[in-house]
Amino acid sequence: MNKFNQKNLSNQIQNPKSKIQNLRTAVIGVGSLGQHHARNYVEIAGEGKIKFVGVCDSNDENAHLIAEKNNCDYFTDWRELLDKVDAVSIVTPTETHCEIACAFLEKGVNVLVEKPIARTLEEADKMIEAAEKSGAKLMVGHLERFNPAMVALCPHVDNPLYFEIHRVSPFPNRSLDVDVVLDVMIHDLDAIQWLVGENVKVSEIRAVGIPVISDKVDAANARIEFENGAVANITASRIGTEKIRKTRFYQTNSYVVLDYGTKFSSITSLAPNAIHPLLGISVNRLEINDVEPLRAEIEAFIDCIIHDKTPPITAADGRRALSLALGVLEKIEAHRSRLNV
Ligand SMILES: NC(=O)c1ccc[n+]([C@@H]2O[C@H](COP(=O)([O-])OP(=O)(O)OC[C@H]3O[C@@H](n4cnc5c(N)ncnc54)[C@H](O)[C@@H]3O)[C@@H](O)[C@H]2O)c1
Repeated sequence: MNKFNQKNLSNQIQNPKSKIQNLRTAVIGVGSLGQHHARNYVEIAGEGKIKFVGVCDSNDENAHLIAEKNNCDYFTDWRELLDKVDAVSIVTPTETHCEIACAFLEKGVNVLVEKPIARTLEEADKMIEAAEKSGAKLMVGHLERFNPAMVALCPHVDNPLYFEIHRVSPFPNRSLDVDVVLDVMIHDLDAIQWLVGENVKVSEIRAVGIPVISDKVDAANARIEFENGAVANITASRIGTEKIRKTRFYQTNSYVVLDYGTKFSSITSLAPNAIHPLLGISVNRLEINDVEPLRAEIEAFIDCIIHDKTPPITAADGRRALSLALGVLEKIEAHRSRLNV
């Protein structure tokens, strides 16, 4: 899907006679995020659009709890689902993505895998190869692309030149097995690459990051420069006192504010033919279509299967974001060795 041409995906999957009704789906890993995947699939199935086979979690108690909430079947070993489904969301810890995704892809089952696509580029390549071999779709869950504020903004993106990005959260109880770069900064790394252009190469990365509460990097700042001269300055922290999800960027003739948390986006620009620049400044708050981003993401996944289209977020996109995140981590490590922390 072209970012400048996002459509209302709900409309595309409403034909009751389409083969979509027979699409058998499941969610593997129903922890803090996976339970919301399950809820959305169950809702979509409830509207008669797909079939929902059940949830799977290696934690029996969790699998049972989420199945009960959604009134569906549950499994504790994903292998039991290999021959029962046509499409799955994989929402397990990152270190399990490659093994589980490859097994389903090799069977021809379409996969929506959570971000980051995998732990390493080698694992991502294995997944890409498995999808190419079987022809199954492989989509990566970079959810912010479906945030209504981002969707509203997309038609107005015009040569972004300089980004200031802050993504800050209070210390979480989850995802402490990964650092803040792979956990959350990767959302912004994906977004800047997408907004600047998938094919615009990164020319320089500088980064600093430190462990504060956990033994992994808890706070980091990266400066990414692209070969077209665009620069992004990104701060990601999970030891803040408040939640901030703000991106500001300057493009050829305007200043853009995007707040994923409050689903707000605006464009400040100069009215044409203003007598004086200060008299002609206008702020345009964009109207949003307030759908749940995860629902939009899952519908886009289903839509690409049914209409045999390229997923809106491809495995190559997921690999690119991972590669950028690993590049940031490499620079952080080099800097940390000088700091001796
Ligand atoms: N897109 C986003 O905004 C976003 C947000 C949060 C998490 N994530 C990603 O989602 C994934 C899960 O994160 P989470 O925070 O929900 O983690 P979590 O620990 O809360 O949940 C993971 C679940 O997977 C289960 N599990 C582990 N190994 C399994 C296996 N082999 N088979 C079946 N179930 C297994 C666990 O029991 C647990 O219930 C991670 O890759 C994370 O990076 C993405």
